Amino acid sequence: MRIVILGTGAGGGLPQWNCGCPNCKAARAGRIPSMTQSSIAVSANGTDWALVNASPDLRVQMQAVPALAPAELRGSPIRSVLVTNGDIDHVAGLLTLREGQRFDLFATPAIHGVLADNPMLGALDPRLVARRDVALDQPFDLAPGLSAELFAVPGKVPLYLEGEAVETEVMGEQTVGVELTANGRRVLYVPGCATVPDWLRQRASGADALLFDGTLWTDDEMVRAGLGAKTGRRMGHVPVSGEGGSLGAFDAVPLSRRIYVHLNNSNPLVDPDSPERARAEAAGWQIGHDGMEIVP
Ligand code: MLT
Ligand code: MN
Ligand code: ZN
Repeated sequence: MRIVILGTGAGGGLPQWNCGCPNCKAARAGRIPSMTQSSIAVSANGTDWALVNASPDLRVQMQAVPALAPAELRGSPIRSVLVTNGDIDHVAGLLTLREGQRFDLFATPAIHGVLADNPMLGALDPRLVARRDVALDQPFDLAPGLSAELFAVPGKVPLYLEGEAVETEVMGEQTVGVELTANGRRVLYVPGCATVPDWLRQRASGADALLFDGTLWTDDEMVRAGLGAKTGRRMGHVPVSGEGGSLGAFDAVPLSRRIYVHLNNSNPLVDPDSPERARAEAAGWQIGHDGMEIVP
């Protein structure tokens, strides 16, 4: 199995267009690496690829990965796209894939419902782009030699569908994790998750890699930095540090590799020289970066 992290950033990326926080300034100045928005590409054979999530930065992300270039006059090695929720950072890139290319679009029925409600996505010709419903907890073929299984994780509906009251730890079809298996390897990809329940620790145990939600270091870091009014948990993202944080939650879980993805621009982990990064690395975590290759 080969995985390429196309984008390591959360919604907005790094730098975010309207943000002047220290990290965004440092990224603009080239002092720390920039990040495009959340997506990975996966292949079992190096020839046929699946995208898991399609970010608004998809066009530029694909340009950086030679394996994703067409081998023929018109074509693409991308056989399928799977989306793990309906968030804009995970689906807006579908509009980049509208130029008459055949692929399968996999999602839960609930997420397909959200996509079907958006008339702009009708630009994906239904004769070419098959929208395939995926039931939770049922393995399916995502690409040749590559199996995937979706599982519900605590989360919420997309931000643009939030009503007055929002439940942030709903288990259902709106926010899922993916277990990828190929050639005897097993990788979990969970870019959005509101808490780390015991069953998730057990499910992840023994995996060849876990790519996990690293949106925020501290639950209230955006509030304290004056960047917003919401905590991570309110946004459906468990923080890395602190009580109930993912660093501690996965501490005793055996994993060959553990990698943070979906990092918000406010997160001190995006600075390679931060003490927070040193702490996460000392606990066995790697911090994802755009273009990072994982061969589990
Ligand atoms: C999230 O991960 O919380 C969303 O991507 C936020 C957004 O839609 O910008
Ligand atoms: Mn997101
Ligand atoms: Zn910023």
